[in-house]
Amino acid sequence: MSTTFQLDTSTSRAHPTPAPMKRLTIPQVRARKAGGTTAEPVVMLTAYTARQAQLLDAHCDLLLVGDSLGQVIYGLPSSVPVTLDMMIAHGAAVVRGSYHAAVVVDMPFGSYEASPEMAFASAARVLKETGCAAIKLEGGEAMAETVAFLVRRGIPVMGHVGLTPQAVNVLGGYNARGRDAAEADKIMADARALDQAGAFAVVIEGVVEPIAIAITRAIACPTIGIGASAQCDGQVLVTDDMLGLFERVPRFVKVYDNIAETIGKAAARYADDVRARRFPGPEQTYQPRGQAPDDKLG
Ligand code: KIV
Repeated sequence: MSTTFQLDTSTSRAHPTPAPMKRLTIPQVRARKAGGTTAEPVVMLTAYTARQAQLLDAHCDLLLVGDSLGQVIYGLPSSVPVTLDMMIAHGAAVVRGSYHAAVVVDMPFGSYEASPEMAFASAARVLKETGCAAIKLEGGEAMAETVAFLVRRGIPVMGHVGLTPQAVNVLGGYNARGRDAAEADKIMADARALDQAGAFAVVIEGVVEPIAIAITRAIACPTIGIGASAQCDGQVLVTDDMLGLFERVPRFVKVYDNIAETIGKAAARYADDVRARRFPGPEQTYQPRGQAPDDKLG
């Protein structure tokens, strides 16, 4: 997809703005997997802000407004304290910043588990107030009735099994799942239940590879792996992890750049300039008309 540079007249800022194009739909993403095979893997990354969405949109099929924003944006210890209002604010920003990818917003802990009705009320707010295409929720068999309830009422649902971070207090940590037969069988049963309930895709997180492959073969809808297997029908990463913004890198993350170092170096150069009174220079200051070094700046 080409990127054009346009002047955004509402902000007077020139953004590289992807030329508006038709967004992918959830049925199109679901249809990537047909007869058990996926010719073109589904590409998903997390996005939390409008600008991040603008930069990622052209490259992704799905943008996930993950509740990982609790740790990544807000410095919280886990995703448990994240609220529906936080997800809605960031979901709306990501929808505003994207034109191509379908946007999926995570349902935060406590906004859907108590009943299908509660889940519908929360999910309806998310869809109405963000303009996103679908929601994601964690949990397998226990959430199947809720998934079916939402799907029957017009809300596309992405499931999430294996390592489910909202359950960190029950799981006791973020270790890989499915290492023993009972746990592996449970994760398989969870994925099957979500698939049968009508989920359009299922995230498999932090699961030993043979189980991820077995689930991908067993269920009809696409699997999206994170710490799972390249044989899943698609992949997702937390964008800030793969950009190298954090010192601690989970084993399943491939770091594609070192943005933390770039930011640190730029901030150090800026600080040096300020302390040496090199910034602002003539190019960044305003002068009375006729006295500017470049008339356009005056
Ligand atoms: O919250 C999140 O970012 C997620 C992905 C890691 C799948 O759920």
